[in-house]
Amino acid sequence: MAKLEDIQRLCLSRGIIYPTAEIYGGLSGCFDYGPVGTLIKRKFLDYWRGFFVKDEENIVEVDGATILPEKVLMASGHVESFVDPITQCEKCKSIYRADNFIEEKTGKFVEGKSPKELTEIIRKEGLSCPNCKGRLGDVKMFNLMFKMFAGPTGDQPAYLRPESAQNIFTSFERVFRAVRGKLPLGIAQQGHAFRNEISARQFVIRSREFNQIEIEMFFDPEDDGCERFDEVKDKEIILMTREAQMKGREATRVKVGEAVEKKMLPNKWMGYFLAKEFEFFKSLGIKEEDMRFRHMLPEETPHYSGGNFDLEIKFDFGWKEVVGNAYRTDHDLKNHSKFSGEDLSVPLPNGRKIIPHVVEPSFGLERILYAIILKGYVDDKERGWVWLRLPKRIAPFIAGVYSLVNKDNLPEKAREVYRILKKEFDVFFDDAGSIGKRYARADEIGVPFGITIDYQTLQDDTVTVRDRDSTKQVRVKVEELKQFLKDSIKN
Ligand code: GAP
Repeated sequence: MAKLEDIQRLCLSRGIIYPTAEIYGGLSGCFDYGPVGTLIKRKFLDYWRGFFVKDEENIVEVDGATILPEKVLMASGHVESFVDPITQCEKCKSIYRADNFIEEKTGKFVEGKSPKELTEIIRKEGLSCPNCKGRLGDVKMFNLMFKMFAGPTGDQPAYLRPESAQNIFTSFERVFRAVRGKLPLGIAQQGHAFRNEISARQFVIRSREFNQIEIEMFFDPEDDGCERFDEVKDKEIILMTREAQMKGREATRVKVGEAVEKKMLPNKWMGYFLAKEFEFFKSLGIKEEDMRFRHMLPEETPHYSGGNFDLEIKFDFGWKEVVGNAYRTDHDLKNHSKFSGEDLSVPLPNGRKIIPHVVEPSFGLERILYAIILKGYVDDKERGWVWLRLPKRIAPFIAGVYSLVNKDNLPEKAREVYRILKKEFDVFFDDAGSIGKRYARADEIGVPFGITIDYQTLQDDTVTVRDRDSTKQVRVKVEELKQFLKDSIKN
């Protein structure tokens, strides 16, 4: 498997993702998408939309502001509970996230322990600053949100949202009335989230600004209305129960229907989304054995959750969460009702009013793109270059268009073909260097096809189409190229 350094090098050199404000030394945990990265991101988001939103009849989309008034985050519990423990070296002032630091140094699992308990472990184990061996200070809680003050007088405290979900809760009532007025109702959103991570690290894996893609599915807990559950109930997922984790056992395969029946999952909506996610990631080239849904242990479970099932992927550095699936119950709407004084309950057809419950799949775009690039990375000794086996539907360009030689009217013909395709597809034209070099450049960013215009093109209007994965070439008529590309994206 490739390593983080390989992925980072490729992303930097090919303009996929690179540090923000690099010429000023960057800002740890902040990244920009370059031309290739922007195309991959856009295609991924579209594919996600098709799979999770357009495929459903009761999911609508919103696009909320990233600055939220303080009251929202007080109601949601983030002001009080969105904290991580830190310890600072009394000598060199280096700061460490206390729980990660202790786990790294002692191998002990300390998640959920109080600052006092963590301080005691630091003292008992004799842990000191790895930088200067200085004494580490008592552990304190650090809030991960970016605080700001809106307006010229600075009297309106606000935060950059730590999760995109909160806009959905605060505008739930308006959206409910505007679109449907009926449960179950899903509200989806793609947008930025901000967390002042203590140690931003592992490239984009732990960033300070990142993209979240979330759905809040609102439903009546007494009648969930998950009408399509039958479609997924016989599908298998890989589940790591709390019991398995505590006994050091592996994750096991289970049918979604059985997992809900046996209360391994809290409800049908959770089962429905887990099954869909499993299929979605498989369609993006992630193997089943590299995925698992882990039921988070009680001490790791967020303050708002009635059960969390993280979709974890096996990375080069170990298992890591890419999608958080939370049963948020009625926590958020109930608290927003209380803090805002607005009644956020909704009427059921029988006239009864309830505060809906929520199941939330929350995808992190950066971790997912990293996983797709990592799993598609092929260091091909035979070819002599690295290439990316990116799924065709999210490849930045579907094809590169080349002229075999730069003479005899071939470049003009190649440009003509390029212009025909460009109207409908993301394609690029490359006339620099040998054909081999052009293939290599395209392979490295996962371009599925190379279309070469050669002398035969001038005779019969056919071109060679080279397949990135097999390197096999076929001849296709220029007039049939569009259909050829369309069919290939679908498959
Ligand atoms: N609304 C629920 C929520 O925010 P989360 O598990 O904290 O849940 C969801 O975050 C997803 O967002 C994670 O699975 C991960 O993919 C991504 N994510 C969270 N923190 C991140 C960070 N610092 N950098 C990059 N991605 C992050």
